[in-house]
Amino acid sequence: VKSNNILFIRNLDQTLTQFFEGYSTVAVLLDQNTETYCYPLVNSILPEHIKITVPPGEQHKGLPACELIWNELSNRNFDRNSVLVNLGGGVIGDLGGFAASIYKRGIKFINIPTTLLAQVDASIGGKTGVDFNGFKNQLGVFNEPETVIIHPGFLKTLSEREFISGFAEAVKHHLIADKPGWHQLMKKKPRELNIEEIINHSIKIKKTIVDQDPKESGVRKGLNFGHTIGHAIETHFLNSGNPVLHGEAISAGMACESFISYHENLLGENELNEITGYLRTNFPKLRLDMPVPELIRLMKQDKKNKNGVIKGIALDGIGNFQFDVTYSEKMIEESLAFYKRQMQADK
Ligand SMILES: NC(=O)c1ccc[n+]([C@@H]2O[C@H](COP(=O)([O-])OP(=O)(O)OC[C@H]3O[C@@H](n4cnc5c(N)ncnc54)[C@H](O)[C@@H]3O)[C@@H](O)[C@H]2O)c1
Ligand SMILES: [Zn+2]
Repeated sequence: VKSNNILFIRNLDQTLTQFFEGYSTVAVLLDQNTETYCYPLVNSILPEHIKITVPPGEQHKGLPACELIWNELSNRNFDRNSVLVNLGGGVIGDLGGFAASIYKRGIKFINIPTTLLAQVDASIGGKTGVDFNGFKNQLGVFNEPETVIIHPGFLKTLSEREFISGFAEAVKHHLIADKPGWHQLMKKKPRELNIEEIINHSIKIKKTIVDQDPKESGVRKGLNFGHTIGHAIETHFLNSGNPVLHGEAISAGMACESFISYHENLLGENELNEITGYLRTNFPKLRLDMPVPELIRLMKQDKKNKNGVIKGIALDGIGNFQFDVTYSEKMIEESLAFYKRQMQADK
């Protein structure tokens, strides 16, 4: 497993050349925002390279962007010894990791995550992929980056909305694996916490789980807490041309899936209230007035399902979880109704 190569670099004054030794050529994948805000911070410490820029946003995490990357790489005669550097958020990491894994049966790639979401979650663990045919991450491969370079300074230019979206994944890590950590975290507003500590701790939790089960046949499924319902919500908004951020959808998904955990007698009522109270105060409230069958249709594409039955995570008390829990359609519907009631509670 290569996932040991996670570097935390507080000051970007040192050169990065040691990570680029032995490659024939280097390409840096960016989106238009990371080109503006992040590239200037690393340009001078990267080795000689070409730039490949794609438009920002989840709408561009697809095959057309892959083709753009593959065109650039082949037009510039990139061989199998070249390397792709993904400088951006989770979209750039997922897209670039996938494009690199396919090009000439696979070239190496390095992740330099620039969003909180990518630093605490997406850049770690080797899942790469793109959306296809209206479904999220429908195409993809497991493939670890050579190195992940975490520099918290990138977060300075991130919008508040993006910061909070990324924070949802840190909340997820605490809820599935660290009860005392959760109690520390929930006492403060996200911005009042030491973000470097949150990043390091989140990475530790994720890595521990991924190392036990890299290909997600068991415990790694726990990292999908909030994502069975959350991905359906995210996909629905994306397909309707009115996207919400990944972490926003996941925060709603975590509220719904906590409700299901409570219904399965795995999570106590106090714990449910603690979680949903926190989510309601710190994350945007989504209007979930789409038809429930539409969300269920989307959930049926989830990669964790078996034989058409929707399988998800249930919290087994805060800090523990069970996977492969059957989510009945009735339960899903009730959980969405619960979310709507919760969100109206303090209006
Ligand atoms: N592979 C995994 O394990 C994994 C895990 C979680 C999420 N994901 C995926 O990650 C994606 C979401 O990632 P994201 O939230 O980072 O989205 P993103 O990559 O779209 O970044 C969010 C926005 O912030 C901009 N941006 C990035 N860095 C910036 C900076 N430093 N300053 C200013 N603007 C900046 C981007 O251009 C974009 O507009 C989803 O596609 C999700 O499926 C993957
Ligand atoms: Zn996620």
